[in-house]
Amino acid sequence: MRFTLNVDHVATLRNARGEQQPDPVTFALMAEQFGVDGVVVHLREDRRHVNERDVRLLREMITTKLDLEMAAVDDIIDIACDVLATLVPEKRQELTTEGGLNVIDNVDQLKSAIERLHEAGILVSLFVEPDIEQIDASAGIEADMIEIHTGNYANAETEEEMFEELDRIRLAARHAKKLGLSVNAGHGLNYNNITDFLVVDDIDEVSIGQAVIARSVFVGLEKAVKEMRELINNR
Ligand code: PXP
Repeated sequence: MRFTLNVDHVATLRNARGEQQPDPVTFALMAEQFGVDGVVVHLREDRRHVNERDVRLLREMITTKLDLEMAAVDDIIDIACDVLATLVPEKRQELTTEGGLNVIDNVDQLKSAIERLHEAGILVSLFVEPDIEQIDASAGIEADMIEIHTGNYANAETEEEMFEELDRIRLAARHAKKLGLSVNAGHGLNYNNITDFLVVDDIDEVSIGQAVIARSVFVGLEKAVKEMRELINNR
């Protein structure tokens, strides 16, 4: 299973004082050295973390894989370069992405965004709930992959709830694979909940941000990445 690192929080820290440091691009390059399989950033309409400069440099310098999370809106699509794009719902007031896209209700907008991105040679992933109908709709508009929202799994309050959510994710991932979609997963995955999550087959890649960046503040990026990598490899 591949492990990609979201470095948005490094940019947030930089922006807090309007300074140049810590630089998310340097951080991303170091994370590659320490073994992540790719780097994820969310270019938000309000630019609260990464900006165009970051995306441009990451695009030039990342040698693994760059995944740009973005809303399916024209001016962001204009900036999206030849990277992987993950389309996510975006609300100005949210602290972080709050859930999957409603693909069924937004077929026209998403279909035209996917067509534009495909014309530019960009593979497109849709961030969705582990919901069979949303996944069918994603395949129907030619998404290349989906990213399953794991927030409900991560926030489950009881073991029973957690295992129920894992079952939903397992069925959803299997269904997506049968439709020929690649399957990523992310949101709220951390050092404590990743091991139980790894029993789910059919997940090609996990996308993790907060937990690894937060741990790196205490133990350094190399150790934080390597610890997560080890948990993922021991599945
Ligand atoms: N996947 C998507 C689509 C996200 O929006 C985020 C958060 O930016 C993540 C994965 C990573 O989530 P976390 O920071 O909770 O690991």
